[in-house]
Amino acid sequence: MKKPIIMDCDPGHDDAIALLMALANERLEVRAVTTVGGNQTSAKTLINAMKVLSFAGIHHVPVAAGASKPLVRDLEIAPEVHGDSGLDGPELPEPAFSASPLSALELMEKVISESQVPITLVPTGPLTNIARLLIAAPHLKQKIERISLMGGSAVGGNWTPAAEFNIMVDPEAAEIVFESGIPITMCGLDVTHKAQIFNSEIEEIRQQGGKVAVMVAELLDFFAKFHQEMGFEGSPLHDPCAVAWLIKPELFISQNLHVDIETCGEYTDGATVVDIHGITGKEKQVDVVFDIDREGFIQLLKDSLQCYHQGEVRS
Ligand code: RIB
Ligand code: CA
Repeated sequence: MKKPIIMDCDPGHDDAIALLMALANERLEVRAVTTVGGNQTSAKTLINAMKVLSFAGIHHVPVAAGASKPLVRDLEIAPEVHGDSGLDGPELPEPAFSASPLSALELMEKVISESQVPITLVPTGPLTNIARLLIAAPHLKQKIERISLMGGSAVGGNWTPAAEFNIMVDPEAAEIVFESGIPITMCGLDVTHKAQIFNSEIEEIRQQGGKVAVMVAELLDFFAKFHQEMGFEGSPLHDPCAVAWLIKPELFISQNLHVDIETCGEYTDGATVVDIHGITGKEKQVDVVFDIDREGFIQLLKDSLQCYHQGEVRS
């Protein structure tokens, strides 16, 4: 049986690739896509999500707009990474369908409550929408199987020295999610910085066939610019890790640990405080991912894109 999931994202180049990987895989059923302000404003991340699905010929998955700002803080966006559109690089046609008339919160509540089996949530942006769901509908926790997220890190940040972007944008939301009691898989920078794609592999994707593969290569061409300026050899495919863990967990190594969220540190605000040595004695509610079979992960991406070329993805 396919694992039903909801993708909650802020496309964003790596979000777009995570969406395409999830939509192509026969082990997952994307019941809904919700968007959130993060890499860009919520208006732009919504349009970007619809453009990506439209480009891939996928019109049956509802896409709903979510939170335009964090629970209590002002929104921080990342145009230096993702460009003014949030998805700079390829020329993407306007969406071929309209956004859901429901809000992200309403759509998540509808999908989860109507599902015959528990749903897995896959947030790859700030956790504002997920926190708002847990605040508004705590009774639905029992129908959420797991949260497989991209965010945080056991060591070091990318937005501040201590904090990763998704958590840093809305630490109060992250605190609600990490304290929810729902099992969490945390694909943080510890693993995503190892999940880099190199220029030679981008060229292989460009040549492998199909317009979706070419579009992904063009996304990666733009995404690589920022990361090469930052001194990376390749580009870290952050968000696809949260999807790949659900598809092929054997590609990853994780540890079950307790994680707290810092919401008021002068230098550590937005940090995921990973209790590596079990010092707190608190419940180990998070599977923190530390390592990856990088080559196997890249092959999974290539195989996912091939599905579009071979017409194997449900439109
Ligand atoms: O820190 C990386 C995360 O921030 C990724 O989800 C990327 O898309 C940005 O949202
Ligand atoms: Ca993201």
